[in-house]
Amino acid sequence: MTKKIGACISAVGGYAPPKIVTNHDLAKVIDTSHSWIVRRTGIVQRRKVEPGTPVSELASFAAMDLIRQRGIEADEIDLIIVCTVTPDMSIPATACIVQEKIRASKAWGFDLSAACSGFLYGMNVGAKFIETGAHKKAIVIGAEVMSSIINIRDRASYVLFGDGAGAVLLEPSDSYHLRIFDYLHEMDGSGSKHLYLPGGGSLCPASHDTVDSQLHYVHQNGPQVFKFAVRKLEQLSRQILNRNNLSIKDIDLFIVHQANMRIIDEVAWKLGLSNDQLVTNIQKYGNTGSATIPLLVKDALSDGRLKRGDTVLFATTGAGFTSGAALARWGY
Ligand code: ACO
Repeated sequence: MTKKIGACISAVGGYAPPKIVTNHDLAKVIDTSHSWIVRRTGIVQRRKVEPGTPVSELASFAAMDLIRQRGIEADEIDLIIVCTVTPDMSIPATACIVQEKIRASKAWGFDLSAACSGFLYGMNVGAKFIETGAHKKAIVIGAEVMSSIINIRDRASYVLFGDGAGAVLLEPSDSYHLRIFDYLHEMDGSGSKHLYLPGGGSLCPASHDTVDSQLHYVHQNGPQVFKFAVRKLEQLSRQILNRNNLSIKDIDLFIVHQANMRIIDEVAWKLGLSNDQLVTNIQKYGNTGSATIPLLVKDALSDGRLKRGDTVLFATTGAGFTSGAALARWGY
């Protein structure tokens, strides 16, 4: 009988640009205040790249960090999945640019666009290539230069986002018990009207008009996104726990997308999570889109809060609406 292969995260890398933008900095350029931002979102500061920095640079730094930590050569990597809504450009895929930058000469790959759910979608896709035995080493990167698509005239969105990148290496687990053991994804396309960037695609090709109308920036209905996120994060978390005969008490760490601290608090309260099961980084990074979850994992590891054998529940929502959850028993 062939031995079953489980996929586990075997290394984590991250990169946050050095430039810090505090709420006080923002209050000097837009009509807002530190107290409003903290009260309504929980964000204290975020990171921002220098203008013109491509997302492939952040993604490559995160991937190199991971390669260094795992002590492998870049040409051992089989697959690169870059999850982003802020690619360097439409053609080619940012994964191609990252492959060249990190010299992963034997890897193939692609970009995956699922907004803030991108990383979890990518992790589960990458895990399938490991589980089938097709590949031994897959890198999944979540990277965003959100500062390139937010509108300074839209203060409700402008304060929320930050730039950053996180990456994980997926490999066959040395124990089948320790693996990513379930995933659950959903999509509700009727939510696309609540969070979108209309300019520059085939719908509204870039023109002076699209720029004059500010269509190259993110547009969102904040309260609608908020309500969806609270409902879906709770629902998917419960669903994936139930079908694995687990309860919230069996979870060592809940790693949830960081869109707004009030969303996180409400979901944690509804699920009955305690503080020691929750890890957050929204205070220091804001919402970094698909980089959020791998950056959370990196923090949890360096704080010693994530250990071999721990049961981890992941959950996310994002534009689309996209959403997902996953369960893993930590393998390294
Ligand atoms: N500073 C000061 N006042 C502000 C700001 C600001 N930055 N932004 C909005 N306001 C004002 C509004 O103008 C409004 O004033 P009014 O009552 O005089 O009209 C008031 O604050 C309340 O506005 P709301 O939009 O109702 O504020 P809300 O409490 O909903 O907070 C926010 C807005 C932060 C956008 C919230 O809705 C939110 O976080 N939604 C989720 C959005 C999100 O996470 N999107 C990211 C991607 S998707 C994902 O990751 C799930």
